[in-house]
Amino acid sequence: MIIALNNKSNLGKEDFYVYQERIGDIEKNSQIILCPTLLNINLFDLENVSLGAQNVSTQDPGAYTGEVSAKDLKASEVSYCIVGHSERRTYQRETLEEVHDKVKKLFEYDITPILCIGETKEEREQGLVGQVLKEEIETATYDLTEEQKSRLIIAYEPIWSIGTGIIPTLEQIDEVLRFIKTFLPNTTLLYGGSANEKNIDMLKQSPLIEGYLLGGLSLKPEELQIFINKLENK
Ligand code: 13P
Repeated sequence: MIIALNNKSNLGKEDFYVYQERIGDIEKNSQIILCPTLLNINLFDLENVSLGAQNVSTQDPGAYTGEVSAKDLKASEVSYCIVGHSERRTYQRETLEEVHDKVKKLFEYDITPILCIGETKEEREQGLVGQVLKEEIETATYDLTEEQKSRLIIAYEPIWSIGTGIIPTLEQIDEVLRFIKTFLPNTTLLYGGSANEKNIDMLKQSPLIEGYLLGGLSLKPEELQIFINKLENK
């Protein structure tokens, strides 16, 4: 199982030092991918945890003020990068085309993209889930090689579930993951959105979820340990 931790825009330098020690102490068989803030990436110092970023430039190094390139992420030993998180699509107005360009740039530098896709509450109510996800998948992956598609990680994060405490039913999640598999049969599939130590017993019944992308829970090492223990039946 993959457990990707999205710290979002949390944890200043001093807090991060304490935090990463606690993450380093977590007992697990699963692979943890820690995605700290950009400033904390170069403070990362854990051996049994993988390092991810939360964003990347569409461009190579150059005159792109405020951007950080895939080349420089790679030089900082980043192996994974979240792309197309709904918070970036909403607040930074990241377009489908930019998400595609970021996925391509990451593969160019041998960084595995964690591509986030998901629908809003309104889209679900209007029966548009398939249409929305199909567009997000197809625009981001249309020119990837089969090998790249099988390395890609997709995180299904229903937007209405992120940070709300509301999670879809297992049937809803599995229906979506089966749908994604019709486009990308060999891609690793994560679930994200209010996953925590209370609902993991339910979520882990899914035969299709291969890991989780955790926001709020990523900031609570004790609860995260309980989550992992339950996930791993310990
Ligand atoms: P929460 O786990 O806080 O709902 O956030 C999920 C998320 O957005 C991870 O990328």
